[in-house]
Amino acid sequence: MVIIDSQDPSLESLEERLRRSNTFLTNLLHSSVDGVIAADKTGKILLFNNAAAEISGYDEEEALTTLNIRDVYPGDGAYDIMAELRSDRHGGPGKLKSYQIDVLQKDGTLIPISLNAAIIYEDGQETATMGFFHDLREAIRIKKELEKTQIQLLQSEKMASLGKLAAGVAHQLNNPLGGITLFARLMMEEYDLEEDALKDLNRILKDAERCRDTVKELLEFARQTRHEMRPLDINRAISRTLFLLENQTLFQNIVIERHLSTEIPTVRGDTQQLNHMFMNIILNAAQAMEGHGTLAIRTCLASDGERVVIEITDTGPGIDEDTLPHIFEPFFTTKEEGEGTGIGLSLVYGIVENHDGMIQATNNTPCGTRFMIELPLSTPEDEENPSEK
Ligand SMILES: Nc1ncnc2c1ncn2[C@@H]1O[C@H](COP(=O)(O)OP(=O)(O)OP(=O)(O)O)[C@@H](O)[C@H]1O
Ligand SMILES: [Mg+2]
Repeated sequence: MVIIDSQDPSLESLEERLRRSNTFLTNLLHSSVDGVIAADKTGKILLFNNAAAEISGYDEEEALTTLNIRDVYPGDGAYDIMAELRSDRHGGPGKLKSYQIDVLQKDGTLIPISLNAAIIYEDGQETATMGFFHDLREAIRIKKELEKTQIQLLQSEKMASLGKLAAGVAHQLNNPLGGITLFARLMMEEYDLEEDALKDLNRILKDAERCRDTVKELLEFARQTRHEMRPLDINRAISRTLFLLENQTLFQNIVIERHLSTEIPTVRGDTQQLNHMFMNIILNAAQAMEGHGTLAIRTCLASDGERVVIEITDTGPGIDEDTLPHIFEPFFTTKEEGEGTGIGLSLVYGIVENHDGMIQATNNTPCGTRFMIELPLSTPEDEENPSEK
């Protein structure tokens, strides 16, 4: 037992030093950017610093009096942490490093955190636990932002090379196409041809015209321009994509049903991005149907009259329930290596977000997948001031 003699000056300074050192430690813990929480064996909170209060939404006073460590984590989170702590999976029993879990805020919001924790032993007995943790929201946001940029870069690289290819093809095709048209016309005008020959030449002219249209659409599709939001006709964007795709081998045994409402106003959008969006969804549908089935595209005005609804359905195998929540994630693919990179739908998601729209994928009955997209209508200001996005 230590008896403090209040008359003894050396003891007084010892007491003072102890008090100061305690204040220093308390300040140290409270100034930590990381949350610090300690709890006893029953879960009663012993220490709750300012950062812990900020992340959890509880103040220190209520944490120390009414909160239990079990309330800080959702479900059985606190038990899971104890189980991990007692195991030797994280650098020996009694230790836990960089463990990712959610904190349940006072208002019910879940905050992702990274936790370093330890059991405090006294004479070999567990007496308390202590955890240091930091909020992962900013890190997760930056990671998502980086992934988005990476996807956009990959896609624009892909599109830039497609654009160059298209421009090259257009250049090479335009001259002979001009020649075909010119000489077919000359023959029709300068020779006294029989009815049948005239018919054949007309056919040549028509087909040449069709080739020119294809080249034009291809150029329009792959055009590398600044992204610009302006009022646009969504049916036209869909038709352009279908025009380019429907003669491809993959689409030869696919029936394409168009239910494009002529009653819908323009949406606020960027032509190139929307072309890419339709291209990716329609290609996925054709790939899922392995070239056989029905692709249906429907457009209409939403019941609130403020958005255009686009529905794209296929009669493929659908998407199984475990896969469905992941399809918009970057690099998620169920395709063999070399057949898919998993960037199509994540790009689609980014484009819909850019347009302040909404996208949803569901399974259709009796079979197939249904993609539903909603895009806001354009406003008179969009007409006057197209904005960059
Ligand atoms: N219409 C669909 N029917 C069935 N599954 C689909 C459909 N559309 C997408 N999926 C599933 O979603 C996954 C992700 O699609 P996404 O377009 O992002 O990538 P991908 O097609 O695999 O590759 P990439 O588009 O880069 O070539 C696909 O691998 C597929 O499993
Ligand atoms: Mg795809």
